[in-house]
Amino acid sequence: MTSTIHLTTYLPEEFSPIRWTNNQLKLLDQRILPLDITWLTYSSAETVAQAITDMVVRGAPAIGITAAYGVVLSAIEHNRSILDGDYSAVMKDINILAQSRPTAINLFWALEQMEQVLKTSESADTIERLIQAAIEIHQQDIQFCHQIGDHGAGLLSPNSTVYTHCNAGALATGGHGTALGVIRTAFKKDKIKQVFAGETRPWLQGARLTSWELTQAGIPATLVTEGAAGHTMKSNPVDWVIVGADRISADGSAANKIGTYNLAVLAKFHGCKVMVAAPSSTFDMTIDSGLDIPIEQRPFTEVTQYKDHQIAPTDVIASNPSFDVTPPELIDAIVTEKGVILSPTKEKLLAHFQ
Ligand code: MRU
Repeated sequence: MTSTIHLTTYLPEEFSPIRWTNNQLKLLDQRILPLDITWLTYSSAETVAQAITDMVVRGAPAIGITAAYGVVLSAIEHNRSILDGDYSAVMKDINILAQSRPTAINLFWALEQMEQVLKTSESADTIERLIQAAIEIHQQDIQFCHQIGDHGAGLLSPNSTVYTHCNAGALATGGHGTALGVIRTAFKKDKIKQVFAGETRPWLQGARLTSWELTQAGIPATLVTEGAAGHTMKSNPVDWVIVGADRISADGSAANKIGTYNLAVLAKFHGCKVMVAAPSSTFDMTIDSGLDIPIEQRPFTEVTQYKDHQIAPTDVIASNPSFDVTPPELIDAIVTEKGVILSPTKEKLLAHFQ
């Protein structure tokens, strides 16, 4: 039996998967999108950390924003100790949040910002200041995505065909998106002819999330399987591969969803350019080489099973790295809220952020 899925819930243009209301955090459950639109409510840092680990919320900037609100929830829960000048319970929760996922540097960046606010507030106004700081991190990310969109779209020629991977859209950020921010802005400027979206095994962010965002925005999109990338580039000239990043090291290497490196290698062979779109919170200038970026290994059952349904033999050995690293020599442009870095090098990155 086949069933036809008609999605009647439309995303408003300015859409965020994260909401802060009445001192509670609401997250759009991304594990079941686009078929089910379910908002889950959180009131403790520990459950927020679990939500990040479990992929309720995902995408580097969105993880950072969520963790910032998680710190607020911790401060609300431990208000009494805070009023006594004791921040140890919140620091413990910050540590728990920091262990939720290892690759996206935005997580650690946001937690550092929040820790700074925690340590520099008067105990009576700590919660208010933490709420303001988290909202600011959230709003700033949306603003940065729009700036990234403008800068990135400037690199595209009219009638461009682009290829994206995973989901670096509104769902992965505060709103609007990084790679999808570029595509959204370029589409409005009549520069996009066609977008290919890779399905992105094993969580299918491309199939479930990116193709949803693109179709909702009315952008011509074709969903392709991972293995079809080479054939697609060979038969339909692609101008740009446009992706996001979870961490960019000082040499300009970019860690992003597993399979990004494959696309960059293919892009080189087929003469299409590679753009990495990311806000400044994605840069880790303490790491000199992409080889040192920590790569998350997720449970092997994500590969041997589809949801609860087993698809591989019980005793097979499976590997499930969640990210790979694309070296700078395969990247034509890194786009941030500040502008464009062409053919990235350490010197160019340092000059960009001066
Ligand atoms: O495992 P995920 O879904 O969190 O991976 C997300 C990605 O790889 C995105 O491309 C990256 O975080 C950039 S999001 C703007």
